[in-house]
This record gives sequence, C-alpha cells and structure tokens, in this order.
Amino acid sequence: MSLTAAMEAVSTPSMFAPVSTPAFAIRDLSFLVLAVVTFIFVVVAGVTLYAIVRYRRRPGEDGRDPPQVYGSTQIELAWTVVPFLIVIVLFLTTTRYIFAIERHAAPADAVEVTVVGNQWWWEIRYPRLGIVTANELHVPVSDDARPTPTFITLESADVIHSFWIPQVAGKTDVIPGKTNRTWIEPRTPGTYVGQCAEFCGLQHAGMLLTVIVHPKNEFDRWVAAQQATAVDLPEARAGREVFTSVACISCHTVRGTFANGVFGPDLTHLMSRATLGAGMARNTRENLRAWVSDPAALKPGARMPAMKLSDDQLDRLVAYLVTLR
Ligand code: CUA
Repeated sequence: MSLTAAMEAVSTPSMFAPVSTPAFAIRDLSFLVLAVVTFIFVVVAGVTLYAIVRYRRRPGEDGRDPPQVYGSTQIELAWTVVPFLIVIVLFLTTTRYIFAIERHAAPADAVEVTVVGNQWWWEIRYPRLGIVTANELHVPVSDDARPTPTFITLESADVIHSFWIPQVAGKTDVIPGKTNRTWIEPRTPGTYVGQCAEFCGLQHAGMLLTVIVHPKNEFDRWVAAQQATAVDLPEARAGREVFTSVACISCHTVRGTFANGVFGPDLTHLMSRATLGAGMARNTRENLRAWVSDPAALKPGARMPAMKLSDDQLDRLVAYLVTLR
C-alpha cells in the first residue's frame, strides 16, 4: 500500500494553497519572483523572436556579417544596471520576509512542540502537555481573537532530514547536534500532508508527516485523550504479557506499563494514529498484524526487527495493541 493510498481524501500539498502563516508570505514572495522572471522571459523571448524574423536569411544575400556594434555605453549600462536592480529588489524583499518569519516571537500561550526526525519517522513531543506521539502533528487553529501559533523545535536522532508541510510553512532542515526552530499559525482546520525534504536513506520517501489542525475545543479534547495513560483491559492482559515479555519494550513506551523504550514510536495511543510505519499502511488490525510480523515486508529497511513470534503470540499481541486508543 502506498503513501497516497493510505492518505487519500487528504488535500494536495501545494505551496500555492497555503492555510497558515508563514506559508502565506512564502506564496506571496513566490508570486513576486514568478512575475519578475515571467517579465524577463517575455522580454528576452520577444526580442529573440523579433531578431529571428527581422534578420532572417533572405534570397539573394551575399552571406557577409552585418555591421557589428562595439563599445556602446548605453547598451552596456542597460544590460548591467537593469539586472542589478532586479537582483537588489529580489534580495531585499526576500531578506525582509526571512527576518519577519525568523524574528516572530512566541506568545506566552503558544503551543510548544519538539519534532525529532528519525530514520524513518517523526517523533512529536509536547513538553508542556506531557504528550509523546508520532508522525501526526496535532495543533489548534489560530484566529485573530485568540492567536494560538505552534512553535516547533526541530532535532534529529540520526541523519539530516527536512521538515516541510508546503501549505503550512517553508522547509526547515533537521540536523543532528543542532536545534532549529520554526513556527506555524494555521487559519483553517484540516489535514495537511508534509514530506521529508532531505534525502535521508532508503525510506526517505516513507516518512509521512501530517499536520492535523483542530478547532480549539476539539484540540483540547485530543490533548486530554493523549494525556491519559494506556488503558488496561482485563481481556487484553494476555497480549500485554506478550508485549512486556519480548523485546518490544526496549524500543517502545506504553505509559502505564513498564515499557519505556525510546528508540521507536510511543505506543500509548497507537490506535489514535491513522497510519503505520509513518504512512506505509492504514492503521488497521490486519495491517498491524502484518507489520509486527514482518516490518520490512511493508517498509524495506525499517529499523524495527521481525520479532519471530508464533501465530498465537501474534494474535494475542495484536489483540492488546488494538486496545491502545
Ligand atoms: Cu528524512 Cu528524508
């Protein structure tokens, strides 16, 4: 199953359809640049076409070169000064936009998120809210009455990734040993698709990131649900025993159990997420069983090992995992 199959009914990630500051500014700047370069293209192509037609070879010509023009100060000034002015305008405009975006200070009630790039998934932490999840960045919609931007700290656990949700914000590199910051302020609730924009290994294309923008009260409900510890249903105990008796717990955390591994995604609310393996498959019981049984079959190169469980152990484990809502 492909990323697109898993994320159908999600809007096309076009930077020309922004829903958030600073993506609005990036679209406006792109239109300015496009207008300038379109004008240059039309002038250059027009003059070229004119010269081709006007000075084409005609019957009965003697084949000698026409008179050549040397040392025309007017012409040389024109083709030096005009491009220089164009570059200055583009440079100053871009600089103004970059500073306006980078110097935007976080208001006191901004949502703080840390996004950690991993081969090949995104860890998403809300340090002030005590939430850890993966691959789905949930944020509140922002409005003029009560602006609620989200400020994002970007870290990498391994190699260079790049954080990019075209409708929401421009690219920011995610670099090992360095902390980068960016921010978003979405104005329209919805689900927006992002993409790792820096080649980071075999599954570079297989680390889907989605931003889910909620109305404010819906976001509060999501926060409350994510803050809860994992459910502990008596009928899922047998599966929970499988989970805690094999190596799952050295990589995964389930809050409320003694599983506290941090190498893989937090599974406390696994079933609240739409996809498995960072977008490789829809998060259903059947796909979950196939994923646990052999992750590399769905996602070649995935760091999660096949646990070599018996069919009976797999059934019990999956019966437990699907209770983690
Ligand atoms: Cu991560 Cu490309």
